[in-house]
Amino acid sequence: MEQLANQITALKEEIAAWNGGDAEAFRIKYLGTKGIVKNIMGEMKNVAPENKKAAGQLLNEFKIFTEAKHESLLQVAEEQSTAAASSIDFTLPGDNIPLGSRHPISLVKNKIISIFQRLGFAVAEGPEIEDDFHNFSALNLPENHPARDMQDTFYISQNPDWLLRTHTSSVQVREMEKGKLPIRIICPGRVYRNETISARAHCFFHQVEGLYIAENVSFADLKQTLYFFVQEMFGSTVKIRFRPSYFPFTEPSAEMDISCLICGGSGCNVCKHTGWVEILGCGMVHPNVLENCGIDSNKYTGFAFGMGIERITMLKYQIKDLRLFSENDVRFLKQFTSAV
Ligand code: PHE
Repeated sequence: MEQLANQITALKEEIAAWNGGDAEAFRIKYLGTKGIVKNIMGEMKNVAPENKKAAGQLLNEFKIFTEAKHESLLQVAEEQSTAAASSIDFTLPGDNIPLGSRHPISLVKNKIISIFQRLGFAVAEGPEIEDDFHNFSALNLPENHPARDMQDTFYISQNPDWLLRTHTSSVQVREMEKGKLPIRIICPGRVYRNETISARAHCFFHQVEGLYIAENVSFADLKQTLYFFVQEMFGSTVKIRFRPSYFPFTEPSAEMDISCLICGGSGCNVCKHTGWVEILGCGMVHPNVLENCGIDSNKYTGFAFGMGIERITMLKYQIKDLRLFSENDVRFLKQFTSAV
């Protein structure tokens, strides 16, 4: 009996000291079906008959004490939740969550794609990690050819045959290999070059390259396609000119310039006082390239072109430093929310 009384005294102290806010945890521990109160009630059967009455009173009183504590915990919890609810003022204006905007490179890329889609070009994509064949050899750039220096890149150390593609011409090779002709595709994507980062060069940038292969495709088709593109992109007053150039995968090859958008051709800093700015490389697909990809070069001809999206974007928006595109500064990026 004395032991029971001591036990109850200790428990009451423990309960009085409970100040955790969790009324439910309290109920489970003390008042639940496997709780302490129920458990200690079971002690009655061990109490000597002459003590039963006193023990009954003691236990009953303990039960009431515990229930009262539970009640008070419930009350505290309720008060707290009403206090929290009333501290919210539903009439205040909500927090402004700013919406993001498309990156200027994506805006211009989408614009380029939509212009060529209207001419019947489909979009083709391929891997950024390429093998030597698709990036170089198939494009008439055999190993040790000096023209590879034009496009130095990063190699994957596990396998010397793997590299980061230097242009999306590799995607064109993959499409030609499929052997389904005619081919009329544009290949947008990220490309890599081993260049020192500056305002005009970066170790990665974005390209859209194009390829059209069918019977009787001529340089005149190339010119007209690109002329349509620049007019849609930069406006109907823009002029174009072609300068002879060299690419291993095209013959003849050319560089295309547009009349300077700033000075309209009279000469300024942007066009270095020439009146013209270069925007892309192009040419007629070299017969070796067609043959490397299993296409009969006596039957089919084709043109190809490739442009840097950064360059087009810089011209379109008068951006002077290429590094701005990858710095993720929202003050720069949010200036391009409107559609191009
Ligand atoms: N692949 C060339 C480059 O990245 C661009 C190009 C494509 C030139 C097709 C001619 C024809 O520099």
